[in-house]
Amino acid sequence: MAEADLFLRACRREPVPRTPVWMMRQAGRYLPEYRAVKEKAGDFVTLCKTPELAAEVTLQPVDRLGVDAAILFSDILVPAEPMGIGMTFNPGPRLSPPVRTADDVDRLRVYEPEAEVPYVYDAIRLVRRALAGRVPLIGFAAAPFTLAAYLVEGGGSQGFETWRALLQGDPDLAHRLLDKVTAVTERYLDAQVRAGAQAIQLFDSWAGLCGRADWRSFSLPYVQRVVARLRPHGVPLLYFGLNAAHLYEDIRETGVDVVGVDWRTELHEASRRLGPGFAVQGNLDPAVLLTTPERVAARVREVLASGASTPGHVFNLGHGVLPGTPVENAQALVDAVRAASVPA
Ligand code: CP3
Repeated sequence: MAEADLFLRACRREPVPRTPVWMMRQAGRYLPEYRAVKEKAGDFVTLCKTPELAAEVTLQPVDRLGVDAAILFSDILVPAEPMGIGMTFNPGPRLSPPVRTADDVDRLRVYEPEAEVPYVYDAIRLVRRALAGRVPLIGFAAAPFTLAAYLVEGGGSQGFETWRALLQGDPDLAHRLLDKVTAVTERYLDAQVRAGAQAIQLFDSWAGLCGRADWRSFSLPYVQRVVARLRPHGVPLLYFGLNAAHLYEDIRETGVDVVGVDWRTELHEASRRLGPGFAVQGNLDPAVLLTTPERVAARVREVLASGASTPGHVFNLGHGVLPGTPVENAQALVDAVRAASVPA
């Protein structure tokens, strides 16, 4: 079997000769070649909007580390801009004006993504051409709950209190916002697959803000809508929620193929609760990459052992690569997965 198929096969819970590996935020500031390209672009948003440069940094971890999948270089906040929301990063995101009232929601535009964010799709086509089948390309977006959280909050936040107050105080308005964000997300991702994305990951980074009932109300139905829209394309669908261990029984109802697990839960435990219909992705603590290559290799073997009994395992971190990560430790992770993983 071609190495190029490892990731997609593991997502589909098909047998693989070894566990595939990629890392969330695998293209980023820890790579000197990323910093060089970002300097050339001037800033992060320009980098996202320049297809040649976005494609170049997408390929960097594939070329340098030998990961088994590429993930498009972009950001979950990119689809917000044509909705009518200004977007800057310094380095944390700022979105303005924030969406707080019924008028604000009504003003948001649902748009044709190929016309308004063509650079996303141009970058996908450039990456596919450059990869020439070496490894698959993952496209992505935020889950509607998480993008709506940023729109209401106006940026990153410790506790997202403005968003949580809206959910509790005016759930009808929250649902109207989520409906619009979902309409944008469906179109945005459908066009990614048509441009060449071979799998789609939904980042629900703030799913953990919700208890079970609220997640079932404010996130699940919108994820289900995105899944229904993408299903006919036949590409694997992945869902990642941070701090979401209390939700695994509910996450089954999303209908995705792969569930991302953070480092707080053992893979075999997450898999047992998800049941046989799901592959799992994860879950090395990104802080392990701040130690030594030897320590990384030892912890990689523990994660592989936990993943060995699941119906399918894609090796990843439990969250994104931290900026201070030494490149040799990221390399040690990839090398250890390649050396140690056993046939599933
Ligand atoms: O994974 C990859 O390599 C693909 C590219 C990617 C980025 N962001 C690039 C990026 C992906 C998939 C994301 C997703 C993303 N963006 C999420 C979901 C995953 C998660 O971390 O929970 C979220 C919440 C965002 C929003 C975001 N973007 C924040 C909060 C920040 C600032 C914090 C930080 O890490 O600097 C960003 C900026 C960002 N997105 C950078 C990169 C490489 C850093 C930009 C830079 O200064 O070079």
